[in-house]
Amino acid sequence: MTKSIVPARLNESNDKLILLDQTLLPEEEKYLELDTKEGVWKAIKNLSVRGAPAIGIAAAYGLYVCLKKIETDSVSELEKELVKISDHLAASRPTAVNLFWALKRMKKRFDLEKNEGKNVQEIKDALLEESNQILKEDQEMDKAIGEHALRLLEPGMGLLTHCNAGGLATSGYGTAEAPMYLGCDRGYDFKIYADETRPLLQGARITAFELYEAGLDVTVITDNMAAQVMKEGKIDAVLVGSDRIAANGDAANKIGTLGVAILAKEYGIPFYFLAPTSTIDLETETGADIEIELRDPEEIRNGFGKRTAPKEVKAYNPAFDVTPKEYITAIITEKGIVEPPFRENIKKLFKD
Ligand code: MRU
Repeated sequence: MTKSIVPARLNESNDKLILLDQTLLPEEEKYLELDTKEGVWKAIKNLSVRGAPAIGIAAAYGLYVCLKKIETDSVSELEKELVKISDHLAASRPTAVNLFWALKRMKKRFDLEKNEGKNVQEIKDALLEESNQILKEDQEMDKAIGEHALRLLEPGMGLLTHCNAGGLATSGYGTAEAPMYLGCDRGYDFKIYADETRPLLQGARITAFELYEAGLDVTVITDNMAAQVMKEGKIDAVLVGSDRIAANGDAANKIGTLGVAILAKEYGIPFYFLAPTSTIDLETETGADIEIELRDPEEIRNGFGKRTAPKEVKAYNPAFDVTPKEYITAIITEKGIVEPPFRENIKKLFKD
């Protein structure tokens, strides 16, 4: 792996959230410096930071920098602010569960410190530690996911991925991209196909950018070419990330994933979701309970500033879809490979 950019981190004085503005990729590598809840909300909403784990990391750091500025000696005052900022950030995007997971984790740490009688400064320091820990764990999880996935893959395979589940969606190797990088280091010589991923082109702009920069063999295809590429025998496995996996194994990911999963089943190609356990939400019973984000129709009518459909025409823009568990060969987490029956086997992951 030759190039690694951390999409969400703190500056040296730990008072600003630094985000790579992914909306500008691959043309420009520009960073945002944020320390307000409105700024962090907007950066998540606009997809300056995107990808489920990276959104969680940005939210944790965003919450911390906003709280750091609060001048008070009162723990209950700080708590009120924490709840306010957290609620605001939680309203940015509804589908990726890592956002809520990270905010909940920060609140839990706050409660722990408060119950131990810590003062405001000590609590702030603990929240900094917690957010750094979220980032560090994410980096370790990516590697573990990659190692587990590699056991299912063979040198020379053709791999298809959709959207971006790489280092810019997490903070390390990515999830779906992790085995690609690890395999590359070990001479696996994968032939990787990246779906362009309409309408915002995370596959073409980000996945292709990351893999190409890292020197991997990557080919971009438009979304409607996946069937042809599979029919030509070029794909041996499909690897994607996820925004939320329900307790029964149904998994949400970028719009278009469901179509790829249906095609993979038709062509007998294994279909894998790769995600940290923080993406599995046991409180979400099935995929039907996952809220699908609806985005501005202008992203379809006016793609990247160019009129791509009549100005007044209706456009429907769900950002995610849910792949039912029946289409999923396995879910690969940092704790191991989960095969059907998913409900039982997912439960086992959380036993300890
Ligand atoms: O709208 P986005 O770009 O945030 O969507 C991202 C995805 O769908 C990713 O595949 C998913 O978050 C997994 S990232 C490891």
